[in-house]
Parts: sequence; structure tokens; C-alpha cells
Amino acid sequence: MLWTEGLGVTYPGAVLALKPTAIGFDRGQFTVLLGLSGAGKSTLLRTLNHLVRPSVGRVVSAEFGDLAMGRNLRQHRRKSAMVFQHHQLIERHSALENVMMGRLAYHSTWRSLFPLPRGDLELSMHCLERVGLADKALTRVDQLSGGQQQRVGIARALAQQPSLILADEPVASLDPATSERVLTLLRDICREDGIAAVVSLHQLEYARSFADRIIGLADAEIVFDAAPAALTEAEISRIYRGASAPANPDLRSAGMAERTTADRSTTPTLEIAQ
Ligand SMILES: Nc1ncnc2c1ncn2[C@@H]1O[C@H](COP(=O)(O)OP(=O)(O)OP(=O)(O)O)[C@@H](O)[C@H]1O
Ligand SMILES: [Mg+2]
Repeated sequence: MLWTEGLGVTYPGAVLALKPTAIGFDRGQFTVLLGLSGAGKSTLLRTLNHLVRPSVGRVVSAEFGDLAMGRNLRQHRRKSAMVFQHHQLIERHSALENVMMGRLAYHSTWRSLFPLPRGDLELSMHCLERVGLADKALTRVDQLSGGQQQRVGIARALAQQPSLILADEPVASLDPATSERVLTLLRDICREDGIAAVVSLHQLEYARSFADRIIGLADAEIVFDAAPAALTEAEISRIYRGASAPANPDLRSAGMAERTTADRSTTPTLEIAQ
């Protein structure tokens, strides 16, 4: 449903973040990206809807064509939803209002958020039900737990009726039990709806349990691409270049995956599609 041709990214300052890569993604497939910090996971993930623009090569949607064309990109973005580590919710708004943001891409021009058509409201409520949060619809999201907020983030993604979900470290801020619950929910919904998911994770064990396919990145290139069963110790050390593989979500606090706030602030920010 989506593939790349010679796709490569070099950031300003000659930082080679992704070497030319040809790769495809299928409908309904749950793909996990693994790799050390700086390996290029976010870069690859973000090129898939051009939040990061390719320096060379291209991304092609089977349905809409080459994303280099503005019209194709707008259509593709409407059908590809993002889920973030820090939810990117509007904290003062209710869960339902946040989920309805997922519908905005379907309206041709900027308009005030409310009232959106009744159908949008019903769909958004349905999405909240699917993530088990119908009873929190009118609760402000800053009054929800981290796990609940991430479920609102997933509901907002679903409200877009996506064919692709891109999730960059969606459970990095959650405790292990909540992480498993959120990943189970995401995987089950993607399976039920035939949504392709590309999810970056720092936890090897979650990749093994949830992925249909694991892509390992090291030093800006893909060094592994297969089903979890093929992920042997030798492959793991290829991905992690001899560093001890991360097994738990505390990796970041252990300092291994640390990046500065300055690094983050240079990462291109979300553009809300039209
Ligand atoms: N906007 C940017 N400008 C310059 N360099 C960048 C930018 N974003 C990322 N990089 C660099 O590109 C490389 C790949 O970064 P990327 O964010 O894709 O890694 P990652 O695998 O997602 O890492 P992490 O696990 O820490 O999120 C790194 O060397 C990083 O410092
Ligand atoms: Mg990243």
C-alpha cells in the first residue's frame, strides 16, 4: 500500500539520517522499528507522510501516487494518522473534543472546531468507545492518566479513519503494564480494521510480542527486516551494534537513549494536514 524508492534523508549540517532505502508496507501489517537512539527510526517513520521531506528518492502511495505532489500528499495525510509519545493532545479540551480533531482533515478549509457535523460527533464517540473511554468523553484530558491520554490519542487517530497509523514511541512514557495494554489495543484495532501500522519502540520484548514484522535500523540503514521469529541474538547485536539491547522501558532514564531537548526542538513539528 505504500513504498519507498531510493528514499534518503540528510539533515542540515550533513547529518546522514537515512541512507537510500527501498521498502514497502502492506495493509494490516503491524511493523515495529527498532534501533539505537539516532539510528533513524523517527526519520524513516516521518518521511512516510513527509513530515520529514526526502533528500533523495520518493515515497509512493498505491492509492494516491508519489507524495512529492501536493495533492497526493494531502490525500495521503488524510488517511494516515500519527500517534505520539507525548500524545499531542490539547490538555484543556475534553477527550471528545480532542478525538474530533481527527475529523478536521476531512473539512476542506479551516473552520471553527464546533459545530462539526453530527456524523463526526457520533464517529468520535464510537472511537472513544473502542478504546474503552466512552465514560471519559467529557473529561478534560489533563485530568486523565498517561495511559488514558494515549488511548485518546489512538481514538483521535481512528477518527481519521486511517489506512496507515504512524506511531513514534507511543509507549515510551508509560509503565510496562499500561504499555502492554496500549500496544494490545493498537494492534487489535489495526488488525480488525486492516490498518497498516509502523511503530517505533525501544523495547525489544514488545517488538517480539506485538510485531508482524520487525525492521531493525543501525547507523541510518536497515540491517534487519523479517518476522519476529527470525530475530536471533546475532541479529539483535547487529541492530544494536554490540550495545546491550534494551529490554525495558527505563532505557531512556538509564541514559542510553538520551538526546538533548535541543535535538528534539530541531525535529520538524507536526503540520496538521490541511
Ligand atoms: N531535525 C534534525 N536536524 C538535524 N539532525 C537531525 C534532525 N533530526 C534528527 N537528526 C539526526 O538524525 C539522526 C537520526 O535521528 P532520528 O531522530 O531519526 O533517530 P531515532 O532512531 O528516532 O532516535 P531516538 O531513538 O532517539 O528517537 C540522528 O543522528 C539525529 O541526531
Ligand atoms: Mg526517534
